[in-house]
Amino acid sequence: MLFETMPEITGEEVERALAFCAGQVVRNLKEFTHKFQKAYSENGFYQPIENNYWTTGFWTGEIWLAYEYERERDGELAKRLREAGEIQIESFLHRIDHKIEVDHHDMGFLYSPSCVAGYKLTGSKKGREAAIKAADQLITRYHPVGEFIQAWGPMDAPENYRLIIDCLLNLPLLYWASEETGDSKYRDIAEKHIHTAIANVIREDYSTWHTFFFDMKTGAPDHGATCQGYRDGSAWARGQAWGIYGCALAYKYTRREEYIAIFKKVTQYYLEHLPKDMVPFWDLEFTDGDEQPRDSSSASIAACGMLEMIKSMNAADAAVYRKYAGQMVKSLYDRYAVWNEKESNGLVLHSTYSNHSPYNTCNHYGVDECNSWGDYFYMEALTRLHKDWELYW
Ligand code: GLY
Repeated sequence: MLFETMPEITGEEVERALAFCAGQVVRNLKEFTHKFQKAYSENGFYQPIENNYWTTGFWTGEIWLAYEYERERDGELAKRLREAGEIQIESFLHRIDHKIEVDHHDMGFLYSPSCVAGYKLTGSKKGREAAIKAADQLITRYHPVGEFIQAWGPMDAPENYRLIIDCLLNLPLLYWASEETGDSKYRDIAEKHIHTAIANVIREDYSTWHTFFFDMKTGAPDHGATCQGYRDGSAWARGQAWGIYGCALAYKYTRREEYIAIFKKVTQYYLEHLPKDMVPFWDLEFTDGDEQPRDSSSASIAACGMLEMIKSMNAADAAVYRKYAGQMVKSLYDRYAVWNEKESNGLVLHSTYSNHSPYNTCNHYGVDECNSWGDYFYMEALTRLHKDWELYW
């Protein structure tokens, strides 16, 4: 086994970390109840933004995770958190009703940790309404010829005729919408997309493409390309983690056995390309000794994916991935987590949103900072280690 001697996080440490995270979320409510956290911190601190970016659901998700934690401990704090979550749900309903920045595929990232979570935890009718409307919005991006959901841009342009690996996390919203409404159209589209995505974004060596293009006329697979990775042929660290969690969710919803085997291989590639402390550099091309920024969010996402997958594995396999996840979270806890509110108003340092390289097409921002999904998935991983968690996805 890789990383044999790395310690796993203990139950006491999970409790200590969750207590700090919940406290940090509560401290942030003053500034971020009617506003949202920006996607990334600047010098360790998030600025407030309106609900108009693809990442705002993660902050609301942190509020719900803190609510779940405090509900077992402090009724007064839980009440404050629930009220804040409800205010944010109103904002998400407004956003989808007025179609504010929703012309892209990230409806799951936006509406699962915010509105589906609020509905599952409190029965919020507005949360349910908003999330179903978001699912309706998401399926407008489905291409029946290529059998996938287009990520970004106008739907009629060949240069936009592509999917991206991240989208696997947007699909649980569609499964949830079919369950809620009894209408299978959402699930049918999700299954088509999963199949197309997994068949194309995973390379022969089980590294992954960030994005994959198709021929607009025939729907045939065309070519892979990176956007946020270092170069086309490398494995963007967060993309590989989206693949790990995406395969676990693909199995959860489709029950196709082959997705367990693919999960294992994609995870193995990830583990074999980690540095000694199990928290990747921003692209798996880089390792110990390289002067490159980390992406701590990737480790949290991968840990959540493993903790989801083990629910459907035999005991021996489950023990292996439970250990890896516990080791990764321990490394985040020891080396990357925020422990002092004066240092940062986030939860996890050393994450990378978008690092420009000579070979990629992305802008440069949120490098070696906290980012909103890094914070959310760290808290999700801790919650999964703390109890039998009903997922928001
Ligand atoms: N889904 C976009 C990202 O991971 O940066």
